[in-house]
Amino acid sequence: MFGLTRARKTVAVLAAGAAAVTTAALGAPSAAAVPQPIVGGTTTTTTAYPFVMQITDASQNQFCGGTLVSATKVVTAAHCMVGETTSSVRVVGGRTYLNGTNGTVSKVSRIWINPSYTDATNGDDVAVLTLSTSMPYTTAKYVSSSDTGVYAAGTTARILGWGTTSENGSSSNQLRTATVPIVSDSSCKSSYGSDYVQSDMVCAGYTSGGTDTCQGDSGGPLLIGGVLAGITSWGEGCAEAGYPGVYTRLTTFSSLVTAQVTS
Ligand code: ARG
Repeated sequence: MFGLTRARKTVAVLAAGAAAVTTAALGAPSAAAVPQPIVGGTTTTTTAYPFVMQITDASQNQFCGGTLVSATKVVTAAHCMVGETTSSVRVVGGRTYLNGTNGTVSKVSRIWINPSYTDATNGDDVAVLTLSTSMPYTTAKYVSSSDTGVYAAGTTARILGWGTTSENGSSSNQLRTATVPIVSDSSCKSSYGSDYVQSDMVCAGYTSGGTDTCQGDSGGPLLIGGVLAGITSWGEGCAEAGYPGVYTRLTTFSSLVTAQVTS
């Protein structure tokens, strides 16, 4: 209904793969999929977070999120852009509600997908869009390749998006946000086995679940200290205990992103 087919399809495949790996790794079935409020968080606005962009189809149906890092450049997930073309995508800024008509709508003149990308569970999940129209909104800073210390376990990170508010639920009409702790690499590896590629990913969430990104949040920001440090990528279900959300580890890709942002 909001053009989430691609995101939902992607996550279904990923979830099955992750479940299989995890089951094998732990020798036990994964926890039952209990629907939880995604972002056990709160509603917010694009006034509070002006760099949060809706990525939509040509009819302005949102299917992913993105982050404005310069007036004409948006960072999102590669898996959001698979099968898309410059004519199939729009970026909408300054629009808190999915059913709004306000804000700025831009066409996309170029889609850069990380050439190494194959599947979110293999890492490399980053893309940069070049906008045809400048966005008159405050941009986000993003991490540099030397900022590797930002992902210390327990650090508070902020997630944002219009995605579903439960695992099989519907999207949120209003932008939502929550905070989640960064999870250690060793803990995330015990959740996801070899699907967790430490160099390319970082996990965030509570051990008990309950707060997470979900379908439709992909491509959107994970902020640490207000700086873009991750991109919503994948997870086993949403907000499940023992299965944190997985985000693109942006420090690994910041030079690649900068090359796109300055081109
Ligand atoms: N792949 C999803 C999307 O395309 C995002 C899933 C995030 N899942 C999670 N449990 N954190 O919107």
